[in-house]
Amino acid sequence: DKGGWDSFMAKEITENPEAVSNTLMGRIQDGAVTLSSLDVLGENYFREIDRITVIACGTAFYSGQTAAYAIERWAGIPVTLELAHEFRYRTPFITDRTLVISLSQSGETMDTLMAVRYAREHGAKTLSICNTQGASIPRESDAVVYTHAGPEVAVASTKAFTAQITALYLFGLYLAQERSTLSSDEIADLLDEFQTIPEKMRAVLEEHDRIKELAHWMADARSVLYLGRSTGFPIALEGALKLKEIAYIHAEGFAAGELKHGPIALIEPGQPVFVIVPSPRHDDSLHPKIVSNIQEIRARGARVLAVIEGGDATVLPYVDEAFACPPTSEFFEPLLRVIPLQIFALELSTAKGLDVDQPRNLAKSVTVE
Ligand code: F6R
Repeated sequence: DKGGWDSFMAKEITENPEAVSNTLMGRIQDGAVTLSSLDVLGENYFREIDRITVIACGTAFYSGQTAAYAIERWAGIPVTLELAHEFRYRTPFITDRTLVISLSQSGETMDTLMAVRYAREHGAKTLSICNTQGASIPRESDAVVYTHAGPEVAVASTKAFTAQITALYLFGLYLAQERSTLSSDEIADLLDEFQTIPEKMRAVLEEHDRIKELAHWMADARSVLYLGRSTGFPIALEGALKLKEIAYIHAEGFAAGELKHGPIALIEPGQPVFVIVPSPRHDDSLHPKIVSNIQEIRARGARVLAVIEGGDATVLPYVDEAFACPPTSEFFEPLLRVIPLQIFALELSTAKGLDVDQPRNLAKSVTVE
């Protein structure tokens, strides 16, 4: 049931806020995280691990890449990411102090399942973050934290992505509690901000028509580039994946710092570029860096559409169009910045008269290698 929407994808994008709030539900108590499904791993387990390896494919991989920044910062543990199909065909470094986290909406992706089996056979504990109760991957893992995004029907993943980041952030804060790497006040503050995200997502969703207008502005583009730094980088990759898979437009995401190492050669007059711009309020130097990247590509004729924080006037003189998201703290920004990119792909696909929910050549769950 599309609930009055033209496609499942359109409906599922509007369910992002519930995907986040339902995944948080019952897991925050008195300013702390409770994840009782992790108790099976043993009392001191989370103090003993020295590395986390995240395995996934596609959009799930990008959710892991997004959350890795926060988990490393909060829990003081190295987090490496690996595509499941690469992981299983090399000799990955795994010990009994490695936690292998798999991310999968369906819980049936063959490459991810085989990578989980490999990890277990080599002595690692495995944690599944999955949206489908009782699927193969959670069944074969040592522990599971379910995302509660609800059924996702459209082939292109949207609300499962934000639910995965939510579950990973809860896990990261839980780990910080267990390892005493953040104070209880710091954790409580982060959880307070986390709980405002569904409301802020709704504010973004209310601007659907504005994003649709921006999409039409790029309707005849042959190629669209996406740039970001830090968590904006995997969001750029995810935005590009959405556009390829449902609008069949060549799209590529880059870490903005890579531009001068090659990709800037692609910029010619009229080239549309999405830039994910972090808040200028954050305590890092990312904002001026991204503004100078924008100046570099603008000087070469790029048409820049920036996804910014509302009220960030400093960037406006340098861009052609801007879409503003509500302010939030550093690690929660990607949960808001990704939504306009999802809507943008949806609207370009619709404008081209394509089947949004069933793109050619793709299946919802990839149960073959
Ligand atoms: C993209 C998309 C795919 C899946 C990937 C993993 O929109 O849907 O890239 O994310 O095939 O699927 P799961 O999460 O079911 O393992």
